[in-house]
Amino acid sequence: MNSTSESPVDAAISVRGARRTYELEDFSHLVALHDVDLEVKAGSFVSVIGPSGCGKSTLLRAVGGLEPLESGEVRVCGRTPKEVASAKGFGFVPQTPSLLPWLSVLKNVTVAQKVNRKHNRTPAPDLEHLLRVAGLGEAMHKLPRELSGGMQQRTAIVRAFGLRPDVMLMDEPFSALDEFTRETLQGQLLDLWAETRCTVLFVTHSISEAVRLSDQVVVMAPRPGRVVDVIDVDLPRPRDADLLKSPEFHAVEARVRDSLWAAFDEVPPPVTQRGRV
Ligand SMILES: Nc1ncnc2c1ncn2[C@@H]1O[C@H](COP(=O)(O)OP(=O)(O)O)[C@@H](O)[C@H]1O
Ligand SMILES: [Mg+2]
Repeated sequence: MNSTSESPVDAAISVRGARRTYELEDFSHLVALHDVDLEVKAGSFVSVIGPSGCGKSTLLRAVGGLEPLESGEVRVCGRTPKEVASAKGFGFVPQTPSLLPWLSVLKNVTVAQKVNRKHNRTPAPDLEHLLRVAGLGEAMHKLPRELSGGMQQRTAIVRAFGLRPDVMLMDEPFSALDEFTRETLQGQLLDLWAETRCTVLFVTHSISEAVRLSDQVVVMAPRPGRVVDVIDVDLPRPRDADLLKSPEFHAVEARVRDSLWAAFDEVPPPVTQRGRV
């Protein structure tokens, strides 16, 4: 977060005083975003974490120009989100992959590149190479129905990275997957990111996922939806699955956990051998 009035030149995403209120059916108001500030450095990986309903998706949509704000301002690479969207500067990965069922994995990502990259002047990445980085080398010619859920989601992620966007917006892309698949995909996502180095804003409700992936973790709290902390993750990269067992990793996880609970003014429940009580 940054409280100065000028955006740092290297900020890929700058959100200032964002406010979004929804009017509910009983005419009451729900403040989904309350004076939210956010600065994301170009080329960095930033996660937004918080309990359900704290405004994570609303914030992501506001950055992508899909959510009108009552007040405040969003700038992406110095432009408005609408300008960035019309220049095809965003990649978007939602919770479910939504692939075209009649096209192979390779065709799904190729067609998206052909349709969406018309205005993008950066060189198009080699999609077959990106598919191999994501562990889909053997599955390139398969149809989506022949793939596991994890493989479908990897295809959607390669499709988004294949557009070579300036900013990648990812909303809980791994939440429907089992823990093992999730950890594998996190590693592949980091490999793809290392290849393309775009700025990533990633929404999750998993503390370990946020810490493993990110340079910074933005902690949000609900009612009203607000940013309560921004935590730097100074762990070395590349971050393979072994890092998840290290004391340094657990220390950052504990820092994020404390921040999440502090927003509720409560202490975290003790951890027992069977998990939290
Ligand atoms: N279109 C809408 N109309 C009314 N309330 C909404 C709408 N979209 C989101 N909300 C509410 O705004 C709050 C924040 O939503 P959201 O950003 O989706 O939270 P999160 O992604 O953190 O779970 C939630 O309480 C949600 O119910
Ligand atoms: Mg959400």
